[in-house]
Amino acid sequence: MNAPRLVDTARLMLATGKGLLAMDESPPTCNERFAALGIPQTEASRRAWRQLIITTPGLADSISGVILFDETLHQRCADGTSFVKVLENAGIVVGIKVDTGAKPLAGHTGEKITEGLDGLRERLQGYSAAGARFAKWRAVISIGEGLPSTACIAANAHALARYAALCQEAGLVPIVEPEVLMTGEHTLQRCADVSLQVLHEVFEQLYVQGVLLEGMVLKPNMLLPGLNCSQQDHIDKVADATVTGLLRALPAALAGVAFLSGGQSAQLASARLNAMNQRYKWRLPWALTFSFARAIQQPALEIWRGEPGNVVQAQRALEHRAACNSAAQQGNYSAAMEAIDKAISDV
Ligand code: 13P
Repeated sequence: MNAPRLVDTARLMLATGKGLLAMDESPPTCNERFAALGIPQTEASRRAWRQLIITTPGLADSISGVILFDETLHQRCADGTSFVKVLENAGIVVGIKVDTGAKPLAGHTGEKITEGLDGLRERLQGYSAAGARFAKWRAVISIGEGLPSTACIAANAHALARYAALCQEAGLVPIVEPEVLMTGEHTLQRCADVSLQVLHEVFEQLYVQGVLLEGMVLKPNMLLPGLNCSQQDHIDKVADATVTGLLRALPAALAGVAFLSGGQSAQLASARLNAMNQRYKWRLPWALTFSFARAIQQPALEIWRGEPGNVVQAQRALEHRAACNSAAQQGNYSAAMEAIDKAISDV
């Protein structure tokens, strides 16, 4: 394992004032989001959308790395430049989603196990040769009556740790993503209990597999009440619960934390990340940043709608969300940033 290279890459990914942009939706997930806005569900549309994202002016001021899907890693801009080259020229580190999706877990109705370990060593070598310096694997855990089961948590934690060890062997920084879903009526406390149980198991398995904590990034959910919970807690309470939980479960040696957005609104995701950094940055052993997909892309996608004439306006919206999250990473975000942007776009 080339530990210094892994540590260097992790440091680049977690640079102050920067975070990650996830644009690694599989074609079916990307098509679903396009369908909701009447955008053609074709390879050409997906390429055009992703070209719009990576050529956004000023993106590298707030974004240290992007996570691509296999299809995107091999795509090119209209002028023939490969996406990887465009990103490298901008100083943005290239990452790749390497799991092959969450499938039903045998014997456990309603639960999933993420697959993709077979042949992963060889695929990682190919991705590294194609320019990737980090990878992502997402496990999903549902909260419900009797869920999650210990079987689901154990199987997913084991797979995450084996994936992480393979990545480090191949010289790629693993993003380890155990996502406790927001779907449901559960309270913040229940999410905190489940998230801690999951994180303890994940770090136990990472230890067993010998994963270098300084050379990996954790991508957790924020600790939140379920989307349909009648009590939606204040931003500060979510920040307190999330930071308290992470401090209890994460080793200090970990390179850093980059949250997923998970279906929160873009503004709420920024406000919550900001509250965590504003209130606690001074006492945290690791950086807290973002690795958002929907909370960065969605407002821009709603402007673009597949129309070439909307590209510039959509890129402005994307750059704005990236800048808001950059400010939140430093505890400098405020609702006024949104108001100023709206005033400018209304002119
Ligand atoms: P969201 O920010 O939309 O949750 O996506 C992050 C991600 O990469 C999910 O795997």
